[in-house]
Amino acid sequence: MGLLAVRQRATDKNRSGPLFLAPRLSNGFFSMLEVQGVFKSYATPQGPLPVLQGVDLCLKPGSSLALMGESGSGKSTLLHLIAGLDKVDRGSIRSGEHRLEQMSEGQLANWRRTEIGLVFQQFNLIGSLRVEDNLAFQARLAGRHDPRWQAHLVQRLGLADVLKRYPEQLSGGQQQRVALGRALASQPKLLLADEPTGSLDEATSAEVLKLLLELLDDSPTTLLMVTHSPSVAARLAEKVVLHGGRLAGVDGR
Ligand SMILES: Nc1ncnc2c1ncn2[C@@H]1O[C@H](COP(=O)(O)OP(=O)(O)OP(=O)(O)O)[C@@H](O)[C@H]1O
Ligand SMILES: [Mg+2]
Repeated sequence: MGLLAVRQRATDKNRSGPLFLAPRLSNGFFSMLEVQGVFKSYATPQGPLPVLQGVDLCLKPGSSLALMGESGSGKSTLLHLIAGLDKVDRGSIRSGEHRLEQMSEGQLANWRRTEIGLVFQQFNLIGSLRVEDNLAFQARLAGRHDPRWQAHLVQRLGLADVLKRYPEQLSGGQQQRVALGRALASQPKLLLADEPTGSLDEATSAEVLKLLLELLDDSPTTLLMVTHSPSVAARLAEKVVLHGGRLAGVDGR
């Protein structure tokens, strides 16, 4: 899919209805992601724990954003909400033409399958599938399995020698690369990565990150990545910090 397909002009869309109330940027393009006034608390034995208290965020297609903030500040919570894995208490999350709070579980599952790539710190690889089938898994579900793109990813990620192995037969760094490859293979519009290199040593982490950014250069995917590393954050186009339930320190370049 070309960049233009993602950066569809709002005027191309004549559909109406709640799912198609897409936010429009001043340049006439849809924003990839728009989070507005989002609140989220968790119920705990001590009462409600407020985590997000009015989060606003707007991401343009093809951009990359580092989400930082101290442990427990709510970064993973925000990513789960954006992925539609949990519901906001208040506020709205829109991605392109979709309004998440108005979608059914089935619509959310379908949207995640076709438009979102998820890479969490735990690699979540499927133990019963060989590497090659793990890589193709989401792309097949999304109906976008492209053997040439997958072969390109395999070559770039250095996975050619382990394609027939099972995840448990891989090192942590190799598993991490398979998880990234799986998310990228499906050519998602939005890649949500929660500390994707957090459990790797510094050198491997730098190598995996470099690869990720290079591969994103070849695709129209928008990246939202949680990281604790200032040097990782510095390599992304923008940076925000979650503190006290809100985002601050926007550093657009
Ligand atoms: N299911 C849950 N029930 C109750 N509290 C939760 C739940 N999930 C997270 N929390 C709490 O919400 C707060 C935010 O958690 P979250 O995982 O979003 O933080 P984080 O910024 O991702 O932290 P880290 O950098 O350590 O991964 C924490 O205080 C956490 O204990
Ligand atoms: Mg977290």
